[in-house]
Amino acid sequence: MSSSSNLVFSVQPGGVLTGSLRVPGDKSISHRSIMLGSLAEGVTHVSGFLEGEDSLATLQAFRDMGVDIQGPDNGKVIIHGVGMHGLKQPESPLDLGNSGTSMRLLSGLLAGQGFDTTLIGDSSLTARPMRRVTEPLARMGAQIDSTEKGTAPLQIKGGIQLRGIDYQMPVASAQVKSSLLLAGLYADGTTSVIEPAPTRDHTERMLTGYGYQVKREENRISLVGGGKLTACDIDVPADISSAAFFLVGASIAPDSDLLLEHVGINKTRDGVINILRLMGADIDVLNQRDVGGETVADIRVRSANLKGIRIPEEQVPLAIDEFPAIFVAAACAEGETILTGAEELRVKESDRIQVMADGLVTLGIDAKSTSDGIHITGGYLKEGEVDSHGDHRIAMAFAMAALRADGQIRINDCRNVDTSFPGFVTMAKEAGLGIATVEDA
Ligand code: S3P
Repeated sequence: MSSSSNLVFSVQPGGVLTGSLRVPGDKSISHRSIMLGSLAEGVTHVSGFLEGEDSLATLQAFRDMGVDIQGPDNGKVIIHGVGMHGLKQPESPLDLGNSGTSMRLLSGLLAGQGFDTTLIGDSSLTARPMRRVTEPLARMGAQIDSTEKGTAPLQIKGGIQLRGIDYQMPVASAQVKSSLLLAGLYADGTTSVIEPAPTRDHTERMLTGYGYQVKREENRISLVGGGKLTACDIDVPADISSAAFFLVGASIAPDSDLLLEHVGINKTRDGVINILRLMGADIDVLNQRDVGGETVADIRVRSANLKGIRIPEEQVPLAIDEFPAIFVAAACAEGETILTGAEELRVKESDRIQVMADGLVTLGIDAKSTSDGIHITGGYLKEGEVDSHGDHRIAMAFAMAALRADGQIRINDCRNVDTSFPGFVTMAKEAGLGIATVEDA
């Protein structure tokens, strides 16, 4: 089996989703556990770590910089922190695969080191915009060379004393915020980031857990450079972004009743629950609890008759990774769903507005892309063959669409599902989806 061959999902129509399941660990938290655990003093024990290609790329990058990391073994990782100045120059470029989070966060973190590094990635990552981090980092004094288009490879010069800045982010991006805060750990003075809208706050929460003081005043997040991190243990909750496919699947498939266990429902990540509820979804959030500074719950979802809605723009950053799944819900809803204010979707692992619109149209749905969103009129999904464009979340969203289709759905280019959701096919099959994989040479 060649890793470059086309992995196809072939999904039979119909099915009911039932039972209980725990989807893999949160990708954002898994990345950050490796980064902060490596820079801490002491040993960090992580449980629930996502053993997907993206977080494994971060793990390998820190191994390449001399950090002793054991595991992952059934979600358990042990990180022997080297302290803020203990990383070593890697022998070759750090290959971050498909992972935008690794590249953007590491750009900030590595701009403060005493050695040079080069960051590379796959064709999707190499096409994604990096100026959103390299420009503000340059204002902090960082020297990072990119291509003329502002894309990777990124060459990061070490041995530079960074200085804190006050940065008003033009886009609501947790990756940009986190990159600057990680650079700020190494900067003289205070680094402040002002968010145009709330974005996921795992970096701030985890820094606090590691004993680093982070201040939040309304939409301004600040820290003072030169401190240290003290190791702590991390229990990674199940990823709400992976749970989202099942929230949608069980909502659209008649007679479904599914329990999703131990899901992270941090307020900066719960947009998918809010949006689906506005559409009429039957979702109960149960046993809400605090786990290591993050809110976790079990989520029960039962099938419901969904209605089209105008998605509130303030929910967009809170559901930014869940729109491929939400678009499938919209395709099965009664009436029109309108999304605006979501131009960021065009620069994710694929252009998620266009790729979803194309796929939905192929499946017989009236879907029209706009510059910053989409209009979808719910209807009947027919059989067909769609392309995920190597985007993990597009692949999983269309797999769920088969629950309501009148024939088989074939989805091309699904190998990258392993970046965020290893074991998706097995778990989805166990829950009741008629999914199989085919290697197409
Ligand atoms: C992430 C932030 C989001 C999200 C990505 C993970 C993070 O990206 O889409 O999957 O872990 O910080 P943006 O910051 O570009 O919105």
